[in-house]
Amino acid sequence: MTHPPSTATSSRTGSPTGTPADADRTAVRARALTKVYGQGEAAVRALDAVDVDVERGAFTAIMGPSGSGKSTLMHLLAGLDTAASGTVHLGLTELTGLDDRSLTHLRRDRVGFVFQSFNLLPMFTAEQNVLLPLELAGAPVDHAWVDTLVDVLGLRDRLSHRPAELSGGQQQRVAIARALVHRPEVVFADEPTGNLDSRAGAQVLSFLRRSVRELGSTVIMVTHDPTAAAYADRVLLLADGRIAGDISDPTPDAVLTSLDALRPLDDAAVR
Ligand SMILES: Nc1ncnc2c1ncn2[C@@H]1O[C@H](COP(=O)(O)OP(=O)(O)OP(=O)(O)O)[C@@H](O)[C@H]1O
Ligand SMILES: [Mg+2]
Repeated sequence: MTHPPSTATSSRTGSPTGTPADADRTAVRARALTKVYGQGEAAVRALDAVDVDVERGAFTAIMGPSGSGKSTLMHLLAGLDTAASGTVHLGLTELTGLDDRSLTHLRRDRVGFVFQSFNLLPMFTAEQNVLLPLELAGAPVDHAWVDTLVDVLGLRDRLSHRPAELSGGQQQRVAIARALVHRPEVVFADEPTGNLDSRAGAQVLSFLRRSVRELGSTVIMVTHDPTAAAYADRVLLLADGRIAGDISDPTPDAVLTSLDALRPLDDAAVR
């Protein structure tokens, strides 16, 4: 199969089509990824032939105006939804070729999720919530790894608390430990600081960055906040279902400037 030339990604991979060797450093790859909601006149092209390579061991943020396709892209990359056309690879596995059962297993075993609303189980303690993915997978507990996560995330004295007894920031740190406990290949975070005040948000972002720097995680985060995006190694900008920018080592100012440049495009698309 041939692919159209990569725009945002070719400088990172050195090759728009990719080779098996790239799988070592490419955690997720999308090619010509297209998603259409609805049919006929009502059809919305939420993603339009998107090419993306996400580097392993990096912290990548996805930004863009409301409706630009950020959540859609993340859901497709994480195997939570299926594409109209195009391909997604997680490592060497092509998601777009998997049946529902295989996708369910892949999400359970190889991917971690952090949501804006924490999504902890209220009747379980923090510790039980953290260990849940291992329980569901019937996988053994790596106690040294759990200890590392608990310490890095500052949860040691909160393990026996239920979510209702924790602050929002603490709950989100439990959710991050849960997302990392089975050592997923990629952690997907959709607006992880959306429900937190700026101090708790900064803590969560620092922990995500530390998990990348010190624990070798790969994190992909959707955010509206330029300050949050500046914690990442790279910001991918989406506009109208297409990649509209790719910023390395972003600063809040650089992100804001690039977002501002997208606004007229967005307004035109809305009209
Ligand atoms: N289930 C759906 N059915 C129909 N259209 C949808 C559906 N989900 C998303 N869309 C449309 O697809 C486009 C992209 O939506 P998406 O949710 O990916 O945007 P987003 O960038 O995440 O926006 P936001 O910042 O508001 O969360 C939008 O035009 C949206 O209206
Ligand atoms: Mg969204």
